[in-house]
Amino acid sequence: MKTRTRLAQQGRKPKSQPGTINLPVARASTVTFGSLAEMEAVQKRFDADEPMPTYGIVNMPLRVAFEELVADIEGGHRAVTLSSGLAAVAVAIAACVKAGDHVLVTDSVYGPTRRFCNRTLARFGVETTYYDPLVGAGIAGLMKPNTRVVYLESPGSLTFEVQDFPAIARVAHERGAAVIHDNTWATGIFFPSFEHGADLVVQAATKYPGGHSDVLIGAVVANEAWWPRLRDTSRDLGQTASPDDVFLALRGIRTLDVRLRQHEKSALEVARWLYSRPEVKRVLHPALADDPGHALWKRDFLGSSGLFGVELEPCSHAQVAALIDRLECFALGYSWGGYESLIVPANLRGARSAKPWSGGPLIRLHIGLEDPSDLIADLERGFERMKSA
Ligand SMILES: Cc1ncc(COP(=O)(O)O)c(C=O)c1O
Repeated sequence: MKTRTRLAQQGRKPKSQPGTINLPVARASTVTFGSLAEMEAVQKRFDADEPMPTYGIVNMPLRVAFEELVADIEGGHRAVTLSSGLAAVAVAIAACVKAGDHVLVTDSVYGPTRRFCNRTLARFGVETTYYDPLVGAGIAGLMKPNTRVVYLESPGSLTFEVQDFPAIARVAHERGAAVIHDNTWATGIFFPSFEHGADLVVQAATKYPGGHSDVLIGAVVANEAWWPRLRDTSRDLGQTASPDDVFLALRGIRTLDVRLRQHEKSALEVARWLYSRPEVKRVLHPALADDPGHALWKRDFLGSSGLFGVELEPCSHAQVAALIDRLECFALGYSWGGYESLIVPANLRGARSAKPWSGGPLIRLHIGLEDPSDLIADLERGFERMKSA
């Protein structure tokens, strides 16, 4: 079945829920059994890694349905659900390392992932080196005998560099390191990470799978080899997600494909318009033909999403405020991937260590599902305000 069909049909278990399309929300701390024999039979299947519910924290049917669908869309073996995208990042990395190990993380990584590495991972005796996202096969020069993880995020947070994923993954695997990818920007629909060499894929389902800015949830998908470590780490850390949030995420993901394609179309329209503006120095969007990452994006990606960066011509802080403060269609805020448009200034101070940002003022836009002509008119009025600020 094609992706759009699977998004609509899978994760429903219709036979066990006659009469409803969607699985009900079961709020449960515990699972009860009719007899000791039944309890032991379920436990036996649980021990054999069947997704059997034995306790509220694991394998509740709604969560299993979500995990099966996310694993399917990302193209991996199985998935775990976590309480946020950041929890997914932390669990994915923790699943692959032990004290004394070294991890290589792209310099363009989501800021809180960097904080997790620098603070918590370091405290547990794991060293992190940040690498230039454009390093490609040159990653070989940074690998140490104890490098256990090469972490990618492509395109990168805020600066949207596209990484040479297969080249990096090849080197990582030759040296025995796991490849983790934060695939939140593209999702499995636009970037099949496992086909390009990922072992574990992080999805901040808060963003596009949820799609409505009303849920915090994360998922990690593993290939078969890494699944036992991912499963056990997630359980050992007591990770779970609220059934209400899983329900919303499962509802949101049904329309992921159609929403993403609209985000893509509208974002490209706004990005191309921005490109023509005198206030704009550069649009950081890999689907634009002269973006430095365009060739790699075209080779590896199947589409682009609604999030991109805009480097402004040199201007004052007051001018940036004049642009942002009275926008009508763009809310000012960080999380993205919902149906609505957002704008946020990108502060790169302290956010890069391998390759400091040398450009001008940077903003990040998320293009929602509004009519792009309204978004363009809104931004145009913002640029007018900048002139008189
Ligand atoms: C690329 C990326 N990964 C992970 C996350 C974390 O997701 P959450 O907000 O659900 O913790 C974000 C959030 O902005 C993100 O942009």
